[in-house]
Amino acid sequence: MSVPSEEEGCAGCKASTPPKWRQDFPIEWEGDHYVSRREMVKFLTLGSLLLAAANWATALASRFLHRGSRAELYVGSAVSLEQTGSMLFRYPTNEDPCIAVRTPEGKLVAYSQVCTHLSCAVVYDKAGNGLFCPCHRGFFNLEGQPVAGPPTRPLPRVELEQRGDRVYAIGLEA
Ligand code: FES
Repeated sequence: MSVPSEEEGCAGCKASTPPKWRQDFPIEWEGDHYVSRREMVKFLTLGSLLLAAANWATALASRFLHRGSRAELYVGSAVSLEQTGSMLFRYPTNEDPCIAVRTPEGKLVAYSQVCTHLSCAVVYDKAGNGLFCPCHRGFFNLEGQPVAGPPTRPLPRVELEQRGDRVYAIGLEA
């Protein structure tokens, strides 16, 4: 006995009604892949919103990770900083290079060493009284503000505390 093909369906009811499975699934194969403009716009909108939310969450998380860090870290000796003019250290994690500077006025300041343009390392320029970025000749004053070259955002400031001869990093301002 042969099984009727999909097209043949039931021999007895061939002329009157389509097969039962066809009634349950009335959409043709081609129609199943059809995406309307409305569905496409909905998909793109939801996708964009999802990406924006993920970006926002990532930015917020990184901000809190750095801001929340009030860990105290020994930076170095105030006397040796006096002699060298600047000192490199890492804060709040070992992945975050920073630079401490004794200004000509005797003030102790520290900033992230990562240039806010394209992340090269800034160095202390004693003659220029600021922090110089050699990659694109960016320049920051000793308040961390960009004064020349492509950087437009200030350097994140590290809060320092001096106790006797010992200098500690105690916080990071974004
Ligand atoms: S990376 Fe510092 S000026 Fe471009």
